[in-house]
Amino acid sequence: MTTSNHITREAVYEALSRVEDPEIGKPITELGMVESVTITGADVHVGVYLTIAGCPMRDTIERNTRAVLEELDGVGSVGVTMHTMSDEQRRALSEKLRAEQPSTAIPFADPDTRTRIYAVASGKGGVGKSSMTVNLAVALAEQGLSVGIVDADIYGHSIPGLMGSADKGPTVVDDMIMPPITHGVRHISIGQFVEGNAPVVWRGPMLTRAIQQFLGDVYWGDLDVLFMDLPPGTGDVAITVAQLVPNAELIIVTTPQAAAAEVAERAGTISQQTEQKVAGVIENMSGLMLDDGTVHHIFGQGGGQRVAERLTQLTDSDVALLGSVPLDPKLREHGDDGTPVVISEPDSPAAAEIRRIASTLKVRRDSLAGKSLNPQVK
Ligand SMILES: Nc1ncnc2c1ncn2[C@@H]1O[C@H](COP(=O)(O)OP(=O)(O)O)[C@@H](O)[C@H]1O
Ligand SMILES: [Mg+2]
Repeated sequence: MTTSNHITREAVYEALSRVEDPEIGKPITELGMVESVTITGADVHVGVYLTIAGCPMRDTIERNTRAVLEELDGVGSVGVTMHTMSDEQRRALSEKLRAEQPSTAIPFADPDTRTRIYAVASGKGGVGKSSMTVNLAVALAEQGLSVGIVDADIYGHSIPGLMGSADKGPTVVDDMIMPPITHGVRHISIGQFVEGNAPVVWRGPMLTRAIQQFLGDVYWGDLDVLFMDLPPGTGDVAITVAQLVPNAELIIVTTPQAAAAEVAERAGTISQQTEQKVAGVIENMSGLMLDDGTVHHIFGQGGGQRVAERLTQLTDSDVALLGSVPLDPKLREHGDDGTPVVISEPDSPAAAEIRRIASTLKVRRDSLAGKSLNPQVK
């Protein structure tokens, strides 16, 4: 290290701009979290504000701040002191974050929202809805998209476990909820608000209120895609979601079994009443690949295709079979571990198919549809 280089405030701020608040996913320099910068010769001392006193990210932020400062050319000693924001500063931050979201109570309800919203639905439980939600979301985040998940399965919440965030709670900044981010995906679940695995016994209006809050009071930033993991069946929540976010498109998950396919069809047909678009059907657990390469169709064959065809007739629109995901023990194992299979074993049979499906999904609605961005291109 040389001491001939003079340390400038610009260099320090540039370094600090590489430290993100892990919950908000933005640089601390943009969030007003830099309390002070003091340069004495080659020694640098920085004060950093935490949003709340007991911030669980305290150590991470402190460590990352120290790390970028120590990399400065010619730096001597580095000091970092952590402070806590005042109520007023917290309010200012919350207002700043809110200002980045459209002003309606639920930004995604705006007909012009650029966020593509998928509600993942099924007739029955246990067909792999949550597994598909998480793996599709993580696969898209891996492609560099900004992705969120709302766990709308209030009674059967499973997103925190699948995302490996069961030990993380959301942070509340004034009146905004900062959702945990793991595997690059922001996600919110009632499981983050209840002790252990305490059952949730809320009824009608409270369910609606919870989902409303998940959509409206959570800091999502500017999402390309939002997935909503619905509870099985055609109950309250499916209707609530359709009312709160009418432009949510349904992804129907089914197994190949005839009976499962039939109830999946029923789940799909409520889209007619709610006037929601069906984006497509995923057949899950569609066969087990044996070691010799042959496929064993444990749950029968063709259910997904049948559901897609029936929904095409019923909704008078083109409902495609998006793909068939095989039974794959790795998918379950990595689900249990909170390390989604699409990133932990991307080439396993189920992961490869889910990644393929993800790459065919439409993302980010183009509000400039019909307008040419380049006048030369007709
Ligand atoms: N393709 C698959 N291969 C192996 N196990 C799977 C597959 N899809 C789902 N599972 C397992 O089945 C169980 C139910 O899946 P889950 O995603 O929780 O379903 P749902 O949300 O529809 O109730 C989980 O243990 C999950 O790991
Ligand atoms: Mg589920």
